[in-house]
Amino acid sequence: MTTAPVGHGTMLRKEDARFIRGRGTYVDDVTLPGMLYGAMLRSPYAHARIASIDISAARAHPKVRAVLTGDTLAGLNLAWMPTLSGDVQAVLATDKVRFQGQEVAFVVAEDRYAARDALELIDVDYEPLPAVIDARQALAEDAPVIRDDLEGRTDNHIFDWETGDKAAADEVFATAEVVSKQDMLYPRVHPAPLETCGAVAHLDKVTGKLTVWTTTQAPHAHRTLYAIVAGLPEHKIRIISPDIGGGFGNKVGIYPGYVCAVVGSIVTGKPVKWMEDRSENLMSTSFARDYHMHGEIASTRDGKILGLRVQVLADHGAFNGTAQPTKFPAGFFGVFTGSYDLTAAHCSVTGVYTNKAPGGVAYACSFRITEAVYLVERLVDVLAFDLGMDPAELRRKNLLRPEQFPYPSRTGWEYDSGDYPRALETALDLAGYAGLRAEQREKRERGELMGIGISFFTEAVGAGPRKHMDILGLGMADGAELRVHPTGKAVLRLSCQSQGQGHETTFAQLVAEQLGIPPDDVDVVHGDTDQTPFGLGTYGSRSTPVSGAVTVMVARKVRERARIVASAMLEVSPDDLEWEKGRWFVRGDQASGRTIQEIALAAHSDLELPEDVEGHLDATCVYNPPNLTYPFGAYVCVVDVDAGTGQVKVRRFVAVDDCGVRINPMIVEGQIHGGLADGIGMALMQVMAFDEDGNHLGGSFMDYLLPTAKECPSWELGETVTPSPHHPIGAKGIGESATVGSPPAVVNAVIDALRPYGVRHADMPLTPAAVWSAVQGRPLRT
Ligand code: CDP
Repeated sequence: MTTAPVGHGTMLRKEDARFIRGRGTYVDDVTLPGMLYGAMLRSPYAHARIASIDISAARAHPKVRAVLTGDTLAGLNLAWMPTLSGDVQAVLATDKVRFQGQEVAFVVAEDRYAARDALELIDVDYEPLPAVIDARQALAEDAPVIRDDLEGRTDNHIFDWETGDKAAADEVFATAEVVSKQDMLYPRVHPAPLETCGAVAHLDKVTGKLTVWTTTQAPHAHRTLYAIVAGLPEHKIRIISPDIGGGFGNKVGIYPGYVCAVVGSIVTGKPVKWMEDRSENLMSTSFARDYHMHGEIASTRDGKILGLRVQVLADHGAFNGTAQPTKFPAGFFGVFTGSYDLTAAHCSVTGVYTNKAPGGVAYACSFRITEAVYLVERLVDVLAFDLGMDPAELRRKNLLRPEQFPYPSRTGWEYDSGDYPRALETALDLAGYAGLRAEQREKRERGELMGIGISFFTEAVGAGPRKHMDILGLGMADGAELRVHPTGKAVLRLSCQSQGQGHETTFAQLVAEQLGIPPDDVDVVHGDTDQTPFGLGTYGSRSTPVSGAVTVMVARKVRERARIVASAMLEVSPDDLEWEKGRWFVRGDQASGRTIQEIALAAHSDLELPEDVEGHLDATCVYNPPNLTYPFGAYVCVVDVDAGTGQVKVRRFVAVDDCGVRINPMIVEGQIHGGLADGIGMALMQVMAFDEDGNHLGGSFMDYLLPTAKECPSWELGETVTPSPHHPIGAKGIGESATVGSPPAVVNAVIDALRPYGVRHADMPLTPAAVWSAVQGRPLRT
């Protein structure tokens, strides 16, 4: 491994110099003179009417500077805020509380402890109401109406959405030789970034400027939303997203705590810091998944898949705060046909309110595609079970073929490029699939439970294009600005923001590759709206497909400007110049070249340039992607299951990913490692559980488990490279592929291990108790 100058290729991460020394600056590290501290009072009930709130004792606390309630905010027209899905969400509850942990009052005090102490002094009179916890009961006639704040609302229904061709799908199913059906749940889980959410807000009364240091994955979008919601002039708002300790979708939306910190600063005239604790993060910030799915798959008797039909009940919690492009009520779930060549497909999704925390974020996935991939990969295995066919063979028979790309899916998406059979065969070879099946046969004879699970996934990442994708009217395109100093050192300013993915390294590498300068000569500036051009942020693995593309484009613009300057230096026509890494030279005369550093200096000199050329090499660019990119991969998981306890051990995990051209293979592998661990967490141990009254049962890491190295095997990675035809360097996103693709591989492996018991499906998380329950009452057939 090297830190030597490279363009694309493995190099150590530039940002680690500060991270491994503990010198990162996170929101909680921001301390300003005279700063006050906020704390949030939260509802103990999942559903209750608020009869009264008495804040007099809290106000009288000697260290308390302000106490905000819904009534205070209503006076400022800020008691409710718009959500990313066009709903509204209470900032502080006025009429009712609608989930346990909902924000009720905000105390601003001289220190953290006083703020927390004063919460105890607030007296809220709640009148408890029956809670709706199960999405399937949300639409019952007698279900309590959760959102009676919405005019005319008489039920808990949010939306119905469908995609595909129902008539064509019904026709395929009517005549199919085999139809397999399965109900399955993708449980409610939480992105659980190690850094919780928080903000430091400071309204400078002299300049009228509001600065907010905040945990956001989308600083520019937040700034515009603050301007719209609070009526503040946008140029007087600065959002700074400093070092971020993991986002995974959790930091896309705007939370009541951020708004309260801002209002707290407005009313006290001081900077106000609010940082939630772990339980607050788990209980009240955006969850993910919670999809109740019914899937049907039709095929011929010899395993040619013909069609898919799917119905989903989507639990969106108390406010519809899902983060996804406006035109997609169920996100990209529409890509549910997965990686297979089929005749027809149809899906319908119904969204409902329940008394749970709002959200529905794309936790390390492109807007609900995780649920879609899980659904189709479980269905394919269920079909293999029913047909008595090897799941690898069934996939082999049905995967899209390379010559079908660009592939128009049955639900209106266009997959850009792929060689799926090659990825599958690479994974099976790496795993030694035939040998594993032989070992399994042998073990089954001895009564040992070994399982082999396969999944194949197609992701859809890099939202826009702008005409199809926006968030609240803001089109999903990204800007970049590249400044080249006279000595040839460069500063790249980006709208997207790293939460630990190594952007300061890889985006510098992109510029380095285009200009032929060392990556260490390129500084990447991001996460500050005053310093960077507008763009929609980092989520859904869109950084490389969109901001990566605009980086390459802006660097190429600089290179073209350098060509004009070089032509003036060499007194030749620009058309006679040829580029090689780092310099322009006169075609046919290698020795004649001028390096980019020499050109940069000349661009600032008295060199005579053509009249229409301004000088300097700096450039800006906006990139509106023509399509999403479609990374894909084939995964093989091997598990051993203890029949007595139900304990699952993931023994091996082979992951072959194709994200097109890799900028930094080491970082790509790191992204995959993290995603695979995530997948093990979701498949085997994670669920946000509630009791029937809506009490949250997973408010700490003692109950909501994160996978550690102990639960993970030594990952075995492989790769294929199928460039994206429309991305300027052929790269596709990778950040979330493994989180999307791995849960079905693990679940398929566990169900495969339980085959001697005749188990066909069991829902995640496959905890020891769940596995043990799945085999009860089933005789073991060896
Ligand atoms: O949007 P996010 O950064 O989460 O996801 P991404 O665009 O998939 O990128 C994750 C990290 O992997 C970034 O540092 C990328 O530059 C890097 N990457 C890469 O080196 N090559 C690729 N083909 C894709 C991503």
